[in-house]
Amino acid sequence: MNRVNKFVAALVLMPVLALNNMLSAQTNQSMENKVNTIFNQLTLEQKIGQMTQIASTNGDEVPKYVIDAIKEGRVGSILNAGTPKAIEKIQKIVAKESPNKIPLIIGRDVIHGYKTIFPIPLGQAASWNRKLVETGANIAGKEAYDEGINWTFAPMIDISRDPRWGRIAESLGEDPYLTAELGAAMVVGFQGNELSSEKGRIAACAKHFIGYGATENGKDYNAVSIPDYQLWNTYLPPFKAALDAGVGTFMTAFNDINGIPASANQFLLKEVLRDKWNFDGFVVSDWESMSQMINQGYSENLRDVALQSASAQLDMEMVSSAYQKHLKELIESGEIDIEVVNTAVKNILSVKVALGLFEQEYNGVPKNTEILSATHKAEAKKMAIESLVLLKNENALPLKIKDQKIGIVGPLADAPAEQVGTWSLDAVIDEVETPLNAFQEAFGDQIVFAQGLENARSNNTDQIQATVDSMKGVKDVIVFAGEDAILSGEGHSRAFIHLPGAQEALIDALAEAGKNIILVVQAGRPLTLGTIEDKVKAILYAWHPGTMGGPAILDVITGKVTPSGKLPVTFPRTLGQVPIYYSSIESGRPANPQMLGIPTGTPLDPVGLTNNYLDVSVTPAYAFGYGLSYTSFSISKPKFSNTELVKGERITVTVEVKNTGKYEGAEVVQLYIHDKVASYMRPKLELKGFEKVYLAPGESKKVTFEIGDDQLSFFDKNGNVLLEKGKFEIFVGNASDNLASEIITLKNIK
Ligand code: NOJ
Repeated sequence: MNRVNKFVAALVLMPVLALNNMLSAQTNQSMENKVNTIFNQLTLEQKIGQMTQIASTNGDEVPKYVIDAIKEGRVGSILNAGTPKAIEKIQKIVAKESPNKIPLIIGRDVIHGYKTIFPIPLGQAASWNRKLVETGANIAGKEAYDEGINWTFAPMIDISRDPRWGRIAESLGEDPYLTAELGAAMVVGFQGNELSSEKGRIAACAKHFIGYGATENGKDYNAVSIPDYQLWNTYLPPFKAALDAGVGTFMTAFNDINGIPASANQFLLKEVLRDKWNFDGFVVSDWESMSQMINQGYSENLRDVALQSASAQLDMEMVSSAYQKHLKELIESGEIDIEVVNTAVKNILSVKVALGLFEQEYNGVPKNTEILSATHKAEAKKMAIESLVLLKNENALPLKIKDQKIGIVGPLADAPAEQVGTWSLDAVIDEVETPLNAFQEAFGDQIVFAQGLENARSNNTDQIQATVDSMKGVKDVIVFAGEDAILSGEGHSRAFIHLPGAQEALIDALAEAGKNIILVVQAGRPLTLGTIEDKVKAILYAWHPGTMGGPAILDVITGKVTPSGKLPVTFPRTLGQVPIYYSSIESGRPANPQMLGIPTGTPLDPVGLTNNYLDVSVTPAYAFGYGLSYTSFSISKPKFSNTELVKGERITVTVEVKNTGKYEGAEVVQLYIHDKVASYMRPKLELKGFEKVYLAPGESKKVTFEIGDDQLSFFDKNGNVLLEKGKFEIFVGNASDNLASEIITLKNIK
């Protein structure tokens, strides 16, 4: 967010807003003036109140401690403020009984939908569809806004390369470019092009600044070490993209980065975010991430915490109370300059003003809300369809269902609460359409259903034989397996990432009975499927697909729609390969990817001493960017406008994509680069562009990417941009392991 732009945008938007009877009543007075006018009325205690966020409870009632805090001007924001009724009460108390009548910014985790639940973010990333991701955030924001919420804690743009980590589900995957593009789309979806008072728009929050996804050994809330050059090249770019998209707020991470907690990190919060990037929205801590610095061994007590976080210009404290208890005395003692507080309060007020909170009066649930409307569900279904990734297909799909019986088996065939995935606080479970619902509605009595296991984590195999028996005479069996929602998300990491419980035994038994198995996996992370892969004819990866997951899966399995999802994260063959990601650095003794482990008896010399494993291939189970279709596509050899360029110039690379199969479908054309020689070793491949192309059978389209300084440069360890002359290999294709390439040369750089 940039205050000057915001002001200009507000002026430009003014007639439109008035025309549409929007809530904004911005006058000619500039936003800056407005912020200053409000600011000038505040006592020090009230300023510290603005810097405080407290959690309420989830019912209709407003607890006494919340009411007292409002009346005494000790709070600037509430999270989890309760039902719309509670929010209405809160805002009325603010308007009538608080000292300065400054509206509270009401925050909530509206992560992948509010009441209409979209696929988990990792699933949305598999769509590689910027527009759909933006629409999903827009709908989530609108529904939340209608119930009095004006700030979401999304997008989570932590680069995530460890499938053990439960929060990979909430991420957009392993890649900085894909995460940057889709994270920015989410910001725009929530906020519009600028933070504004337009009805239905809420503030977004880029989180967690920074490095949360690099948590050691995949455990949540663990230590993080990131070399500086990697911080700049891998972890910071999505946050810069969110900032460029106008994000109003940032949230710090729970973790330390190289020994300094994110919530007290002066380098990151001041030097990078404020001084280098000029961010002038506000930064909130994570839930007690400030007071937890005591456990982390960085702060001795809450006073220290307040001193350390304020010194880093962390503007708002979530839940813990270091600022409330100690900021005043730190200012009086001169340990914290009053300007730190003044800046924080202005940062917070500027977001409140930009959101139009001073003009909004929240009067309970609006009558014409579109919450869970047919339109919202249709968009959720579209997104769910595009999030599905077809990993394997031995001519089993699309499944042509005429009058034969179809088996639906598995603990996740009819598990609405699991289907919505992590962070679905407000999901309306009764509205969730499961695969079983969808198939039964479409095919009635032809569907033979058996759950097979009590739930997805059950080790009790008692029902398995009966399930196999119930499938007598049924050839095609669709098995819905995977993880319960609670096995991913915050604090829910796993040390094993295979199918939990006795699900493998269930699949084994059906395979032994000779069934044609179509496996649909719902999960919050990549799972290692091991030998199951050989026992099934097709695998459709569905993540946790949300409210409309059932109808989406039905349409794809039956061929009404062709799957088009591509993996936003590499799937390991086995846990021992983790971390495995496509953009790693080449070894001095590169592995032979064809070598699938080393057979016993092989003499050491000819095959050893390379970057291989002894017991598993170095290649992943499924590569980043991979995903099958029912139709086939050809991508022509890339054509370059030039194979030489100089700094400041751009060249184009063009391919023609053709649908050579018999189904309508979509292909994601992907552009990667590799900088052959550089002053810091560069990744083997880096995604630098993608476009999703929709084609009818026989149809073709040209896709053109531009290559210039932005694509060819990188950062040094101090965050300086380096553009170095020399050779670059440019790759185009439809997966990170299926690419054609050509060398270009960047010349004449002094
Ligand atoms: C903790 C989580 O880490 C963060 O992402 C979330 O937004 C806050 N809690 C608020 O619920």
